[in-house]
Amino acid sequence: MRVLQTLLACCLLIGSSAIHSSEVQLPKQAGIASAHPMATAAGHKILAQGGNAFDAAIAVSATLAVVEQQSSGIGGGGFWLLHRAQDGKNVMIDGREVAPAAAHADMYLDENGEVNRDLALNGPLAAAIPGEIAGFEHLAKHYGRLPLAVSLQPAIEAAAKGFPAYPRIIRTIERKAKVLKRYPASMAVYLPNGQVPKEGELIIQSDLANTLKAVAKHGKAGFYAGEVAEKMVQAVRENGGIWTLEDLQNYTIKERDPITTNYRGHQLVTAAPPSSGGIAIATILNILSAWDLTDMDRVKRIHLVTEAMRRAYRDRSIYLGDTDFVEVPIQLLTHPYYAAGLRASISPVKAMPSDYLPGINDNPKGEDTTHFSIIDTEGNMVSATLTVNTGLASGFIATGTGVLLNNEMDDFSAKPGEPNAFGLIGDDANKIEPGKRPLSSMSPTFVFSDDQVAVLGTPGGSRIITMVLLGLLDHFDGNNVHSWVSKPRYHHQYLPDKLYLEKDALDPATIEALQAKGHVIHQHKGDWGNMHAVSWNKTTGAVDAASDPRTTTGSAVVK
Ligand code: GLY
Repeated sequence: MRVLQTLLACCLLIGSSAIHSSEVQLPKQAGIASAHPMATAAGHKILAQGGNAFDAAIAVSATLAVVEQQSSGIGGGGFWLLHRAQDGKNVMIDGREVAPAAAHADMYLDENGEVNRDLALNGPLAAAIPGEIAGFEHLAKHYGRLPLAVSLQPAIEAAAKGFPAYPRIIRTIERKAKVLKRYPASMAVYLPNGQVPKEGELIIQSDLANTLKAVAKHGKAGFYAGEVAEKMVQAVRENGGIWTLEDLQNYTIKERDPITTNYRGHQLVTAAPPSSGGIAIATILNILSAWDLTDMDRVKRIHLVTEAMRRAYRDRSIYLGDTDFVEVPIQLLTHPYYAAGLRASISPVKAMPSDYLPGINDNPKGEDTTHFSIIDTEGNMVSATLTVNTGLASGFIATGTGVLLNNEMDDFSAKPGEPNAFGLIGDDANKIEPGKRPLSSMSPTFVFSDDQVAVLGTPGGSRIITMVLLGLLDHFDGNNVHSWVSKPRYHHQYLPDKLYLEKDALDPATIEALQAKGHVIHQHKGDWGNMHAVSWNKTTGAVDAASDPRTTTGSAVVK
């Protein structure tokens, strides 16, 4: 039976043109890496109950929505990149939030035409219509094999019984306390008795447990219609928001063809719009593909990678938006000839100031959002990046539902050229329009190589794209999954025209050499990201998983 499965996997994966090895060994174990041990355990529990990677993805997502609500949740959305072993299908489930029908391009501008950052980021006016629950139902119906009620059970238990507060969530509550205090339902969960929970104290979310139970019973109708929907709309509107019941009822999941590209013999499958991540990664890798980075001098390598980042983020700011609303020149931006043109403008010795590049005219954050990676023993894979946007999102829990609403509207360009919370700028392609999805940087990715498959991604706002890129380059250098998630990080996003460095990323001599090439260095005091990755060696069937060492709750388990 196992041999048959192996042969079948071999043929079907070859059919997807993704894998070329003649002898494919199915994964001997399943691997899950996520941002919290309760979420990883929930995924493995569902696999043990007969579920596949897609059922496990629902369990992991839903549990993260309870125990890591500062990063993702059912009041938010995200992208699940799937690989189905049975037919080699790669697809991105787009559960991104959409702007409500009453949204309009100028909704965050004050009487002087300036962006009101508080309205764009805090409270219910900052919230777009969530997509995560619709994503769960779509995954269960079309890809999973267990009922949604089963896959949601671990999350329901975690909400009802509580989870112990841990340093990362405590820090986020402290940072967001001023906003949370505006809303009694948010206070009740995160500041019980007016106090930030202590480490180990249980955070119990009874209303959220009931909302998840309604979804377990009625599917997405338990969230987008009926009592939960009515309570959310009432709470939003009483507090200055613009949601309607029709907005919720009209929410639809989209299946997107992922962005695919080749890099020196590796095939990448990555996020499609409304994420900018896949296109930017493809552009950067196409630019870099002409050079052998592995054996290159370190300073030269960082310089060339930075110049490629600069150019891809410049394109992001001009061209990228929701393809249901704007025409994005995907073919052009991901074409090797286009990259060759960009490459020709790169000097090997000198940084090009961003304002030399035609474009539009610092405060990157980003330990919000979440990512997890799964490979099951059939070879099904999920790379999922989910978000509520900034840490603890809008800070607004809709009374009686336990649902913390996202502040994803800030991922739109509130005004051309005006930076959002991540310092990213945008133009008309990403302006606010009713029913439109805000441009994202989330970049869940698969890599199919001759002998290995990689599943990876990370949170981190505008730096998601470059963190995934650096993980990929480390993989292409021949290093293992533990190295991809640990590698020091640097970042350039076109504007502000700075080369950002994570704490201790580069030594003083390398920094000096990069400055001599004209790079303006911005040294961060902290570290970035929370990458979770899984690999599968197709020759041996061995599965490995790793979580970013930068956070203490990361949980990578192979069994
Ligand atoms: N909210 C962060 C992103 O989608 O890029």
